[in-house]
Amino acid sequence: MSVSTPRKSVLITGCTPGGIGHALALEFHKQGFRVFATARRIATLEDLRDNGMEVLAVDVADVVSVKAAAQNVAELTNGRLDVLINNAGQGYNMAATDLDISRAQAVFDTNLFGVMRMVRELAPLLVKAKGKIFNIGSLAGVIPVPFRSVYGASKAALHSYGDSLRLEMKPFDVTVVTLVTGGVFSKGASKSRPNEGIVSPESLYSPAAEVIHGMYANQSDGAMPAQEYARRVVALAVSSRDLEPWVWEGSYASTLWFMTTFLSKKAFEGMTGRFVKGVDEMEARIRGKRSS
Ligand SMILES: NC(=O)c1ccc[n+]([C@@H]2O[C@H](COP(=O)([O-])OP(=O)(O)OC[C@H]3O[C@@H](n4cnc5c(N)ncnc54)[C@H](OP(=O)(O)O)[C@@H]3O)[C@@H](O)[C@H]2O)c1
Repeated sequence: MSVSTPRKSVLITGCTPGGIGHALALEFHKQGFRVFATARRIATLEDLRDNGMEVLAVDVADVVSVKAAAQNVAELTNGRLDVLINNAGQGYNMAATDLDISRAQAVFDTNLFGVMRMVRELAPLLVKAKGKIFNIGSLAGVIPVPFRSVYGASKAALHSYGDSLRLEMKPFDVTVVTLVTGGVFSKGASKSRPNEGIVSPESLYSPAAEVIHGMYANQSDGAMPAQEYARRVVALAVSSRDLEPWVWEGSYASTLWFMTTFLSKKAFEGMTGRFVKGVDEMEARIRGKRSS
């Protein structure tokens, strides 16, 4: 009797249709992986289940759900997991002076503490498989972006967490990669958020409300298709090369790597208007109002 090698396994968080996680699930499946696709609402994963993937409900902000998923996967895979993709994430566009702190905490609970929960519960499985962890970071965690302070801070913290985790996992031959992600076309990035209320009438920024709302209405211009991004991530997951700690992927990522590496922070900040359309107009309107 021949003993066949089990398929490599991957668990991905935040796989609802239209997002990066969904595209990753399809691509890993295509490449022959055993895919555990997860989302807060399992009903959203029907198409992936119909495609032959295993689906689980996971809210990364809820430790009970994370523990249950880890136990489930351990039982199904004989305690091994080859790849963990920490993809689930939330945005929050709001002036730093107007933040709703409970909303900011919820963003950190998913983008940072959610990843910590996943790693804590799945580490034994990843160690057993000498696996790989990919944390989906963001350019917003590296470059200054106005009105995205909470999101940027959560991703910067994730990048830093990943750096320590990488060194701690090294003795176990578990690889940890931060994907510093630029523009990728997804449901989240293309969603208009006119009612997110970046600027209330009481805000310091109310004279520029219209400009600011326009700045973040659609973040998908020029973005890389999620399928292309997924192909690149899966290529890293199957690679036997020694991977870079940070891999810059998505639109604008390599240009911004170059600029943030070789320009001073001051010089880079002076160019913000080139990357975030409307910033200069926002400043002009507020200054105009103050001097009138
Ligand atoms: N698209 C880009 O340009 C871009 C750029 C840089 C980084 N990223 C990062 O890439 C990742 C995916 O983003 P996306 O663009 O695909 O956005 P998306 O379409 O909004 O997808 C985000 C996914 O995360 C899930 N999620 C949110 N909170 C969760 C929680 N507590 N537990 C489990 N799942 C949760 C969402 O589920 P629900 O459907 O239940 O809300 C959704 O499936 C995020 O980490 C994002 O920060 C994206």
